[in-house]
Amino acid sequence: MADLRHHRRGFLSFCNAVLLSVVGMLGAVPVFRYVGYPLRRRGGSSSTEQSFVDVAAVADLPLDEWRLVPLEIVHRDGWEAVRRQHPVWVRKRGDSEGEITVLSSVCPHLGCPVNWRAEESKFFCRCHAAAFSADGQTLAGPSPRSMDPLSFRVQNARLLVRWEEFQNGVEKRKPLEA
Ligand code: FES
Repeated sequence: MADLRHHRRGFLSFCNAVLLSVVGMLGAVPVFRYVGYPLRRRGGSSSTEQSFVDVAAVADLPLDEWRLVPLEIVHRDGWEAVRRQHPVWVRKRGDSEGEITVLSSVCPHLGCPVNWRAEESKFFCRCHAAAFSADGQTLAGPSPRSMDPLSFRVQNARLLVRWEEFQNGVEKRKPLEA
């Protein structure tokens, strides 16, 4: 009888140990997922949140003028999130979506900032003298392509822009994080 009780106690201890192991392993899954998160994201490289960011009320944008507006973007590198501002060029010719143009202010040549020269009605990059028309088309200089347009939409009378970076120095526009 004592032998049977001893066996039963041993069996119950074994079941307990198995149950605790299973529960322990299940509990560890979220921990492993959390620890491995940066590695699962593009091999651990940094990434940018690809969402539309509110930049301004459409009514506040001047008519038929290029305006440089800051776009605040969260860049993620593993667990680290860094907020950075990326200025974009915006021009509206009316309040509807089809009358708005949004261009990146990053020069497609080697990434310097592109500035608007109102007196000459053209964009200009000081680094190597690339010039672009008032629509962002290449006029002169080393830039292999026109200024990069950015995706945007108008929602509740506000302009939302999606920040995107493109490969520099190449003719064909190619997103940097593709
Ligand atoms: S970086 Fe703009 S012209 Fe070279």
